[in-house]
Amino acid sequence: MAATDSALRSAGPAAAGPADRGDLHPGIWPLTARAAADGGISVGGVALTEIAARYGTPAYVLDEDDVRQRCRTYRQVFPDAEIAYAGKAFLCRAMARWVDEEGLSLDVCSEGELAVATSAGSPAERIVLHGNAKTPGDLRAAMACGVGRIVVDSVGEIARIAALAQPRQRVLVRVTPGVDAHSHPMVATGVEDQKFGLSLSSGTAADAARRILAQPELELAGLHCHLGSQITEMEAFEVAARRLVGLMAAIYAEHGVILPELNIGGGHGVPYTEDDQDFDLTGFAGRIRAAVRGACASLRLPVPRLTFEPGRAIISRAMVTLYRVVSIKQVAGLRTFVAVDGGMSDNPRPALYGARYSVRAASRPMIARQLATVVGRHCEAGDVLVTDVTLPAGTRPGDLLAVACTGAYNHSMASNYNLVGRPPVVAVRDGAARLLVRRETTSDLRQRDVGL
Ligand code: LLP
Repeated sequence: MAATDSALRSAGPAAAGPADRGDLHPGIWPLTARAAADGGISVGGVALTEIAARYGTPAYVLDEDDVRQRCRTYRQVFPDAEIAYAGKAFLCRAMARWVDEEGLSLDVCSEGELAVATSAGSPAERIVLHGNAKTPGDLRAAMACGVGRIVVDSVGEIARIAALAQPRQRVLVRVTPGVDAHSHPMVATGVEDQKFGLSLSSGTAADAARRILAQPELELAGLHCHLGSQITEMEAFEVAARRLVGLMAAIYAEHGVILPELNIGGGHGVPYTEDDQDFDLTGFAGRIRAAVRGACASLRLPVPRLTFEPGRAIISRAMVTLYRVVSIKQVAGLRTFVAVDGGMSDNPRPALYGARYSVRAASRPMIARQLATVVGRHCEAGDVLVTDVTLPAGTRPGDLLAVACTGAYNHSMASNYNLVGRPPVVAVRDGAARLLVRRETTSDLRQRDVGL
């Protein structure tokens, strides 16, 4: 179905009160999501049925108010810290602009993310570049536009950064603190046996600091660590922060240099289903500040400025993915499969990590219920979006389903598996919808194929 970028207006009220949320769990659905008695859902005052009619399905629907509100919450909870949104979770030019307008910095990890951010006007001095294998292109692009900090992730890149610096580049050292935050093994980055960072315990991180301090073209601004993703154990952050303060003290003792910044990365967990606990951000702020202050006091160091890099916690709940049911299959005695027009190409997370999601009918009331498993259209039996969910009895092809909490790492990890084009991103706010990223068409896919 054709999508246009003209504003779409809904007849529904733009800002309904909390009572109108119906049974949409506030911890999972976007801030402005509302459920209507007829089974419809609106986000940002726009009915999802209207979005489907105008932009087609599948579509990522993004609640701008939700994003802005979460940015503001971080700024309020951490008034003295720097908050750098991790763009890898989801980035487009509008997103880069919103986080900048809300006073956040930006963490990027490729030339591509950097290009999107700078073309939206993100100030380069508030951009942090990450990557365990930064390519020459990544480094050249970052230094040409003057990014504020580059996070050194291998000893070998120190000389490469120094050679490109004009005249001087601020850097952080990414430290592996040897902390297991019990995140999924594929995203656990605080432990020793994985590819990110420089080991604290073996002395490699201290050695990197030594080499940086010996390079006149580099300014060592501080230390960084990122423990993993979807973390709920706060103690892991406290332990890591104390260990990094310990390294700061060792650097001071050896070189007489006081490092002004301590970046503790992201990874703050978010709920995806009603059974999941939310992350207590205020409690976390108190604990991490106390841990850093306590460690600094006992080591007689000034307290560094803290930086946090939340990705998922800013964007995950702001987005829902809207699908249309294509087919229904009952496997007698086993299961009802409700197959939709997207799947693992727009959300690889269930297949990759066993991630769980919440789904709701968006065009049919729940008068009677049935148990179903929502699957995608792709050629793999593992293309399952949500297992054993309650949908309205009588759900049929043409119905709309909305999957909540799809903002983080869905669009950014989407693929063209089976040569299916990636869905559009449609922003909603105050009763209006606008296209941010257009749907990838068969003709886009065809045009990349330049040989025969
Ligand atoms: N900072 C650094 C250096 C990172 O590597 C990451 C994420 C973040 C911050 C943000 O983490 P967050 O707050 O979003 O958890 N594809 C996986 C997640 C990979 C995370 C990669 N690094 C997933 O879909 O769960």
